[in-house]
Amino acid sequence: MGPENPSSFQLGTSCLVCARFVHTQGEMAAVNQVYIAVIGAGGVGKCFLSQLQALAARKPSPKLSLCYIATSRKALYNADYSPVSLDGVTETLAASTQAPPPLSQVIDYLAAAPAKVVLVDNTSSQDVADAYPLALSRGLNIVTPNKKAFSGSYKLWQDIFRASATSGAKVYHESSVGAGLPVISTLKDLVETGDKVTKIEGVFSGTMSFLFNSFAPTHGQGGKWSEEVKKAKALGYTEPDPRDDLNGLDVARKLTILARLAGLPVESPTSFPVQSLIPKELESSSSGDEFLDKLPAFDQQMEDTKAAAEKAHKVVRFVGSIDVATQQVKVGLEQFDRSHPIASLKGSDNIISFYTERYGTNPLIIQGAGAGGDVTAMGVTGDFIRVLSQIA
Ligand SMILES: NC(=O)c1ccc[n+]([C@@H]2O[C@H](COP(=O)([O-])OP(=O)(O)OC[C@H]3O[C@@H](n4cnc5c(N)ncnc54)[C@H](OP(=O)(O)O)[C@@H]3O)[C@@H](O)[C@H]2O)c1
Repeated sequence: MGPENPSSFQLGTSCLVCARFVHTQGEMAAVNQVYIAVIGAGGVGKCFLSQLQALAARKPSPKLSLCYIATSRKALYNADYSPVSLDGVTETLAASTQAPPPLSQVIDYLAAAPAKVVLVDNTSSQDVADAYPLALSRGLNIVTPNKKAFSGSYKLWQDIFRASATSGAKVYHESSVGAGLPVISTLKDLVETGDKVTKIEGVFSGTMSFLFNSFAPTHGQGGKWSEEVKKAKALGYTEPDPRDDLNGLDVARKLTILARLAGLPVESPTSFPVQSLIPKELESSSSGDEFLDKLPAFDQQMEDTKAAAEKAHKVVRFVGSIDVATQQVKVGLEQFDRSHPIASLKGSDNIISFYTERYGTNPLIIQGAGAGGDVTAMGVTGDFIRVLSQIA
């Protein structure tokens, strides 16, 4: 798949001229058409593409045309914006011999498209996230589960929303917190309808949820900490190196996003207390496997933490919280009564509680799967539909 003429593969200025020429030749896009560019076709990207294909089949208008798709090493696109077929697109992409052009050229190409464009970033790339202000300023709408743009520097956050406000291009990122759970849209609705959010608290990591639900269950003993970590890795619940989950940074990124949406100008995910569950001595282990081999020697630390909670008839959980009034954000271990919704969570579910003036002492609670390709892609597709309703 690719342009008819291999010499027009380059997406530089000369190619844009060629693309515009094609449009003036009577091949202008139908008025009610939207172009889609997808960056990233891994676990979430593949599920998004299949949801997009079903949506395109169901929805005759606007016509949804995939005009660009790329992974870190391969790309598919046509200089004249003729659509890349969604049928078997991941296989076609895998077989492509075309490398992705630099992001600035991709943005030039998309900004010159003959209809509105939605750029779907299904990567966890900081480089792609850093390009959002430019993409938005060029009129490209963005939909993404990538946390990096919204939990990086506060300047990047401001640049993104300034560019969106100035150009009118939309940016949605529901799946960046709680996967497909309606966490961000709910918080935005609370804030925009004038409720006063006082506190947000929850379990924001499927990995941490699974680990603590099995290590310190509300009923029964639970396993040894190191064994639970190994089990979680074997089940595919952790990153390849479990330290990337245990350092708390993923949860800190999600808290950063929610705190900013609640109006706190949090500088970065490292600007508030984040408890790491990696023993100091194992921070420098050379690999995830070496870390797992040495972890049993530190089981007693976690056993002591569990025992302290049990003594108070409680269980320990890894949570994040935002106290809006005192502007305090923190991530780490806390004890909860066994009857508390956070304590009785199951499997790898997430739970997020919003305490607000309107909801009083009984918080608004959102609970369910906080990871997985299909549910995460649902959040992305939902955002995509929201953008469509505003631009087409
Ligand atoms: N999986 C979940 O349950 C879940 C839940 C919530 C949020 N998310 C978020 O969703 C996003 C995608 O997650 P995933 O699980 O699908 O990850 P993944 O399986 O690792 O896939 C990432 C995809 O992005 C591509 N990619 C990475 N850097 C790129 C770049 N600079 N340019 C172009 N393509 C690039 C990768 O291509 P290569 O294979 O060529 O490197 C791959 O196709 C992440 O931001 C993640 O945090 C995921």
